[in-house]
Amino acid sequence: MSVEHVRISCGIRILQQKHPLIRSLRKAGSEPTIYGTRVWQSSLMLIEYLREHPLIERQRIIEIGCGWGLVGIFCAKRFAADVLLTDVDEQVFPYALAHANLNEVTVQTERACFDSLAEASLRGRNVIVGADVCFWPELTSQLRRLIARAASFGIERVVIADPGRTTFMRLAEYCQRHFMATMTPYRMSTRTKSGGFILIVENLR
Ligand SMILES: C[S@@+](CC[C@H](N)C(=O)[O-])C[C@H]1O[C@@H](n2cnc3c(N)ncnc32)[C@H](O)[C@@H]1O
Repeated sequence: MSVEHVRISCGIRILQQKHPLIRSLRKAGSEPTIYGTRVWQSSLMLIEYLREHPLIERQRIIEIGCGWGLVGIFCAKRFAADVLLTDVDEQVFPYALAHANLNEVTVQTERACFDSLAEASLRGRNVIVGADVCFWPELTSQLRRLIARAASFGIERVVIADPGRTTFMRLAEYCQRHFMATMTPYRMSTRTKSGGFILIVENLR
């Protein structure tokens, strides 16, 4: 595989838009339509945060609204996690699987919106992770319902990164009212110093 147009962030290889594999996937007709067209900064922020605040090894993790799936792929690689990548748009999966392959990890994929994630996919998972998944008001409602369901299925922790959109702030307020939740402002160590927030909801059991 061409090493040109590949960047490495926190030990994870990421294909850039000009990489021949990305171009060929696009040419073959894989066209995500709900912003799953690239790796968003919030994913890179969450990866950096998880590198500094590692998860327990070998947990069962589900990434929601995974897009190209880099957060889940990082968890599979760094924490030997068993990872299920989920997204409502199945067009993202060829990009996610290309990155899993490139980073030499195995992940599962499932097409599902936050509201339609099957009980079987949630039960027995330890952690839900997500990056930049709360950008419309209806997504705030869907994520509220998902977190409430996660609590009933014994999921221990939900970790969501966001640049700080109003819709996400509303979700964070809800979580702080109903669960044990913390919001941590986070600034990346990269040259751009871009940042946002990490919402952690814990003790859901
Ligand atoms: C802004 S992108 C973020 C992608 C990836 N998490 C990242 O940070 O690079 C939002 C992702 O959420 C997915 N998405 C949007 N609405 C969703 C829903 N209701 N249920 C599940 N996934 C959804 C989109 O298809 C897209 O892949």
